[in-house]
Amino acid sequence: MKHLRLGVNIDHVATIRNARGGVHPDPLRAARIAEAAGADGITAHLREDRRHISDADITRLARELTIPLNFEMAATEEMLSIALAHKPHASCLVPEKREERTTEGGLDVAGSHNTLRYYVDSLKGAGIRVSLFIEADPRQLEAAKAIGADIVELHTGAYCDAEAAAARGQELERIRKAAAFAEELGLECHAGHGLTFGTVGPVAAIPTIVELNIGHFLIGEAIFAGLDPAIRKMRNLMDDARQAVA
Ligand code: PXP
Repeated sequence: MKHLRLGVNIDHVATIRNARGGVHPDPLRAARIAEAAGADGITAHLREDRRHISDADITRLARELTIPLNFEMAATEEMLSIALAHKPHASCLVPEKREERTTEGGLDVAGSHNTLRYYVDSLKGAGIRVSLFIEADPRQLEAAKAIGADIVELHTGAYCDAEAAAARGQELERIRKAAAFAEELGLECHAGHGLTFGTVGPVAAIPTIVELNIGHFLIGEAIFAGLDPAIRKMRNLMDDARQAVA
């Protein structure tokens, strides 16, 4: 059995940190916990509006992580120069719109290959592996191959969002076919977006996918896994302090 890599996206640890503007919770601390728990890599998306991960987070992650950093970025000059300064293990190019809540669709590589090729060449020239976040569409896979990408990451959002079993099955089939085509083309195949405990299984079972990137659900779930011990610890600290002066 070939090991399926898990990339943990820590963006939303930064979302919670930024709600108060301080330093807690620290995405680097989350990254270390992820590593200890079996993550093979850490993914962080430095958005143009810096709504979660900050420039300083990227600096610290690039300097201190001992597992690979997958730097998600829009294809812009600003992000390219940040990637070149830090030389992460990989950069994943994603479409980015200011008004969107999250990355809502894949890159149109087929329609914008001339622009994208420049970013792929520049990143690869610096020794950074390049991934393109795309829909599970053979046209996009062919275009990704044509402009020299190393990796494609297939968008699993439509599969995860599909409510009816038939629609979900169709989306899964599209992902399965695209993952097989990626292998034929010699592209490493990753997948992610919206994956949960309930949806990960069928995607993880696709043999030609080598890595899954998962974030939002894990950070949300961590609240429930961690709330009980956090409250108990606070309860104990309060009770101990009162007892000490009683
Ligand atoms: N892969 C890519 C390219 C993404 O943009 C995201 C979201 O930032 C993910 C994976 C992870 O998605 P989620 O946070 O929904 O698990």
